[in-house]
Amino acid sequence: MGQAPPAFSHASRGRLTAYDLDRFPTQTLFDRLGRAVCKAGCLPRKELYESWELARRTRRLFRGGRVVDLCGGHGLLAHIMLLLDNSSLSALVVDTEVPPSAQQVHEALIDAWPRLAGRVTFVAAPMDSVALGEDDVVVSCHACGALTDQVLSLATAARARVAVLPCCHDADTCDTGPLTGWVDAALAVDAVRALRLERQGYRVWTQVIPAAITLKNRLLIGAPRP
Ligand SMILES: C[S@@+](CC[C@H](N)C(=O)[O-])C[C@H]1O[C@@H](n2cnc3c(N)ncnc32)[C@H](O)[C@@H]1O
Repeated sequence: MGQAPPAFSHASRGRLTAYDLDRFPTQTLFDRLGRAVCKAGCLPRKELYESWELARRTRRLFRGGRVVDLCGGHGLLAHIMLLLDNSSLSALVVDTEVPPSAQQVHEALIDAWPRLAGRVTFVAAPMDSVALGEDDVVVSCHACGALTDQVLSLATAARARVAVLPCCHDADTCDTGPLTGWVDAALAVDAVRALRLERQGYRVWTQVIPAAITLKNRLLIGAPRP
């Protein structure tokens, strides 16, 4: 009996390349995106799935606004946010070290969607050097540890809408509140974040993206209450 082919794990850090094009055969937006990312040839597979899941859940709640992708890396998330809602005119990707291959991803996406040209700006700087406003939709995928807290505090200071998918929870630098006797430290940190956001006058949504993509899958979304 032959062996079954290995499953195509959505959590893999392996790069999507031209060899994977056939895995995205249809004309759905997601498959077209997958093919563009394969053509760029430099993105870890999980980044495609994480960014997609984060963006589509955020867009179900938040339309329009400037997109600001903090700790944005390649900036795929910012591009997807524009693709899912063309009424957002522009996006800013902020990262202290924009990866050189971000340009490849950007060009592959513009090749597939020329309407994105001139609408995504990369800023190689710390996130607190960027001025935010209340019309912004701030997103951040896997800003490690306390960086997620910084994203949240910058967004709330500006009264901007915000969506974060935290990772690398660190009980030494993040606030666990009094909860670690009941739940693990990572959950305690995220629970404290959600409650803090609510105390700051935000409506809060707590969601998850599929654990098959990442175990760091808690999605925290907030919008200022009117
Ligand atoms: C784990 S990566 C996540 C990248 C991307 N969002 C993703 O999902 O693949 C964290 C990123 O935060 C960036 N970073 C670290 N400190 C930062 C800061 N103070 N301001 C902006 N970006 C920062 C790093 O350069 C890195 O690209």
